[in-house]
Amino acid sequence: MKKTHSCGTLTADQMGEKVSLMGWVQRRRDHGGIIFIDLRDRTGLIQVVFDQEKSKEIFHLAESIRNEYVVAVEGEISPRSQETINPKLTTGEIEVFVDSLTILNSSKTPPIYIENDIDVDENLRLKYRYLDLRRPEMQEKLFLRHKIIKNIRDFLDLEGFWEIETPVLTRSTPEGARDYLVPSRVKSGSFFALPQSPQLFKQLLMVAGTEKYFQIARCFRDEDLRADRQPEFTQLDMEMSFVNSEDIMNIVEKLIVDIFKKVLGKEVKYPFLRLPYREAMSRFGTDKPDTRFGLEIQDISKLVADSEFKVFTGALASGGVVRGINAKGASFSRKEVDDLTELSIKLGAKGLAWFMVGPEGLKSPINKFFKTEQLEELSQKMNAEDGDLLIFVADSQKVAEEVLGRLRVHLGEKLNLISEEDNFLWVTDFPLLSFDDGEKRYVSNHHPFTSPVEEDINLLEEEPLSARAQAYDLVLNGVEIGGGSIRIHRRELQERLLKLLGFTQEESYEKFGFLLQAFEYGTPPHGGIALGLDRLIMLMLKARSIREVIPFPKTASASCLLTDAPAPVNTEQLDELFLRLELPEKEDDESEEKGC
Ligand code: AMO
Ligand code: AMP
Repeated sequence: MKKTHSCGTLTADQMGEKVSLMGWVQRRRDHGGIIFIDLRDRTGLIQVVFDQEKSKEIFHLAESIRNEYVVAVEGEISPRSQETINPKLTTGEIEVFVDSLTILNSSKTPPIYIENDIDVDENLRLKYRYLDLRRPEMQEKLFLRHKIIKNIRDFLDLEGFWEIETPVLTRSTPEGARDYLVPSRVKSGSFFALPQSPQLFKQLLMVAGTEKYFQIARCFRDEDLRADRQPEFTQLDMEMSFVNSEDIMNIVEKLIVDIFKKVLGKEVKYPFLRLPYREAMSRFGTDKPDTRFGLEIQDISKLVADSEFKVFTGALASGGVVRGINAKGASFSRKEVDDLTELSIKLGAKGLAWFMVGPEGLKSPINKFFKTEQLEELSQKMNAEDGDLLIFVADSQKVAEEVLGRLRVHLGEKLNLISEEDNFLWVTDFPLLSFDDGEKRYVSNHHPFTSPVEEDINLLEEEPLSARAQAYDLVLNGVEIGGGSIRIHRRELQERLLKLLGFTQEESYEKFGFLLQAFEYGTPPHGGIALGLDRLIMLMLKARSIREVIPFPKTASASCLLTDAPAPVNTEQLDELFLRLELPEKEDDESEEKGC
């Protein structure tokens, strides 16, 4: 027997046709003398019918069928009787009258229901991922992931990009996370690092003259995990020669517009907004703003400078700022305001100053510290209207921005202000460097291969923190889905930057000698970007976490519940690698698997 048709694609136009179907049993119903089975394959369900009158033998066999058995049936497409039509099913008007049945395999009762919207612990789903992936909504995600990746390949091929693979066993790349290491057996005591990204290889491919490269690349980063972070994830990695930032942003916009249209049938408006980093931070308190709603941050430092409120004047006196948000129409109770204060403190603020706006104006226990004109001015500046809640944080600029940025998103969600549209924007003009107070050195905001803006190169030594990078991040609905930059392509500048980052000449040569050397052989100006493919797909499919769109993801403690990896290895394997283990004493609760 050969499968000739797929369950979910059969239509009433095929009435009377003989079909051979193979799939899984979703459900069996016995109606005395008649058995109905919902047969499922990856395309959907079809009802198949066994009639005792037709064949006792087949009917008897059908009685032994249970959920998730794999069966093959042959039969004829027939109309369902009026009362049994199921309008919820695409094949709801028809059924297949069976005249041959083979049970291809039996199944134990599955530990999770093979249907959509199940309410079950995610760890159980991960342990039995092969069953979880059988569920129609997961099959849909696998299919759409395939479609998205296929469209990316088609689009980039037409644009002249070559798909080129780069090694997984390689050297450490400085993307800022901890490396996953692989010990070498042949070169004892040495280790490969799994790539945090193909950054250096794609730059070398530009030196190699390939001009337009892309790769659907697996990246590995040993870092703390969250809903949008996995230790192993996929990037759409791109690099181009002879381009500027605008060229790269343009091609990515065209690509995004193309896949949204072709895969989801959605029109995305472009060009996307370009928001300089500083503006993003002061208006939204984050470098990945969600601009689907307002609640923008306002600076009231000047306005309150000569108030009597010590919390404000004190912060200003020590070089800080006073900034706030008008939670439009919040109409919060006192309890809700107290909760918001508590949240602000948890986020790092020292407190939260607030005013409720009533018909008579601003109302707060701190009213007494302000003159009537000051309250009036504040009201105007914040566009206060009856029912609003004004909240303020007085602190260093960094803390005020960070706390208000988080409160803004919290309020947007709580007040239901976030629309369903897809909101893309670019954040540009990042500072090239930050100062790491812990390590007491400059660190790259993107990575050490990012080029400074040409006219800021002369600031590198005197005023390094003022130098801007030729870098850009792509943000969708408040999630960073991509980042890239124009690269340094001259050896002297690359060495200057590595020195600024605290690498000695020996360290630079040791780690990046191969790149510096390559730069001596006619390296073209180049730049690129990597999109976090799992994040993009998660947002396209409106999934809750990237685990939902990764076939076999890991838990929050970076382990695979299906295979139980990572797992101990035997002594011979360790001996071969000249490794000896010295494990810390296990604390009881540490040995417990942390779930998702
Ligand atoms: P970056 O480190 O910004 O840049 O990574 C690019 C994008 O990858 C996604 N991403 C992740 N997704 C899931 N889990 C993770 N742990 C994770 N970490 C990052 C994000 C991010 O925007 N080599 C540079 C790119 C370049 O300069 O061309 C790089 O890797 O969406
Ligand atoms: P206090 O003088 O500490 O009683 O604070 C008076 C009000 O100001 C309380 O509502 C505090 O939550 C709030 N507050 C305290 N510190 C800050 C701050 N740094 N920024 C904003 N509000 C604050």
